[in-house]
Amino acid sequence: MRFTDFDKTESFKTLSALAEKGKNFNYTEELTSDRVKSLLADVGGGLTYSYAAKPVCDKTLAALQELAREQELIAKYQAILDGETMNTGENRKVLHHLLRGQLGKDVVFEGKNLGDFYKKELERFSAFADAVHAGKIVGSTGKRFTTAVQIGIGGSDLGPRALYIALENWAKTEKKQKMEAKFISNVDPDDASAVLASVPLEQTVFILVSKSGTTQETLANELFVKEKLQKAGLDLSKHIVAMTSETSPLAHNPAYLDAFYMDDFIGGRYSSASGVGGVILSLAFGADVFKRLLKGAHEADKLSLEPDVRKNAALLDALIGVWERNFLHFPYTAVLPYSQALARFPAHLQQLDMESNGKSVNRAGEPLNYSTGPVVFGEPGTNGQHSFYQLLHQGTDIVPLQFIGFAESQRGDDVTVDGSGSQTKLKANLAAQIAAFAKGKQDANLNKNFKGCRPSSLIFGKRLTPEALGALLSHFENKVMFQGLVWNLNSFDQEGVQLGKVLTKKVLAGNSGDPALEAYAALLGV
Ligand code: F6P
Repeated sequence: MRFTDFDKTESFKTLSALAEKGKNFNYTEELTSDRVKSLLADVGGGLTYSYAAKPVCDKTLAALQELAREQELIAKYQAILDGETMNTGENRKVLHHLLRGQLGKDVVFEGKNLGDFYKKELERFSAFADAVHAGKIVGSTGKRFTTAVQIGIGGSDLGPRALYIALENWAKTEKKQKMEAKFISNVDPDDASAVLASVPLEQTVFILVSKSGTTQETLANELFVKEKLQKAGLDLSKHIVAMTSETSPLAHNPAYLDAFYMDDFIGGRYSSASGVGGVILSLAFGADVFKRLLKGAHEADKLSLEPDVRKNAALLDALIGVWERNFLHFPYTAVLPYSQALARFPAHLQQLDMESNGKSVNRAGEPLNYSTGPVVFGEPGTNGQHSFYQLLHQGTDIVPLQFIGFAESQRGDDVTVDGSGSQTKLKANLAAQIAAFAKGKQDANLNKNFKGCRPSSLIFGKRLTPEALGALLSHFENKVMFQGLVWNLNSFDQEGVQLGKVLTKKVLAGNSGDPALEAYAALLGV
């Protein structure tokens, strides 16, 4: 395998030569019904990726295919699956795919088969959830647990929270909801205080989630919770389980009711498929539901091995994103799910994408001369339409849009107004937006003119089920991975979050040595 900076590849030259064509892509002529019906790729989990409204023609797709070959994207993905040390910055393997099934060699580290280890942990926390549901594990006053609260931040919060919200209404409708789940993440005391005031402490099990076991916010919130439990006269050791790595300070501590483990080869933002997401989701919905999510993710992981870009949705999505970022020079992208259940999914993708690919040096630590990860933001439709779509339609920057939609709602409950149900209205809005962004509308009054030429993709399926959600999770993880490989980045470390943490500690210790920083601290009353 060769690791080459993107601008040193032949494909970079080929794509640069095509850029003008991409910039002048005629959406009005090109976006035909045949194109909409044919430019589709299977995501897995019953989902399909549509790229008809993207500024790509056969030539661009052929150049992107060649880029995939030249940068050895599938071989590098296989190397990740085979357990090679692909996280160069931290000298670690990258094994989140192995959490949902094996697609590579047996990965053995220091004599331990890691696939077996992940399976054992999955079975351990599944059994824990079963025992809680059966009333075999109860709180310190002997009452059954009705509520689970996750304490964690970043990857120990965003993914799991997004997934819980995504399945909550589905589970209620399918009679799968077993416990309520809540999340405490921010070091802002109002977060923990409000959550704790809203739960029956006696019947709440807390999941303390931190891979490192050293995160300031999480440790502060653990103490917050412990103080409340103590004040309520509850036995801490009966109410808190830990989810951490075996080398963390939280590991093997008898003061917790139980502990479940991951390892350093599962990055925080890639950890939703481990116990980081698994403990809370298994408690909330049952281990069978969490395993269905893993199944959907595994199916999408398998499809991501397909070398033909037209048949590999994650790879194609990644390559078109690179085309838009480096040759059409679009610095942003918006994730727009037309599904209230995915309300927090954009927040998860912000971390996944921006913490992975927001980098300006290559995997060997050398500076790069091209743009890398875009700014990601998003909101569910139709809410976003009444907020920032003005800029998306008529602003000076073109923002590629990533739509997600489903034929059916999760709850099935609906109302007919003016001849259509709300779910139908939701879908009509989504279809209308894609066409409006692509084709625009001429108006002599420029204030009312829509230039169009705003590209979008669409991931769609019948209904947001655990399998579909797992595939969606994997799709974006693999998309981000492929983009990082094109850009020759290490997408699996996050040194950019360190400086702020170090300065915070110094401010708190009163020794930052920077008068401006001290002045800001004083303004805030630190
Ligand atoms: O500060 C960033 C980060 O390291 C994220 O990458 C991670 O998801 C989060 O902090 C939480 O880390 P931990 O699970 O170790 O508490």
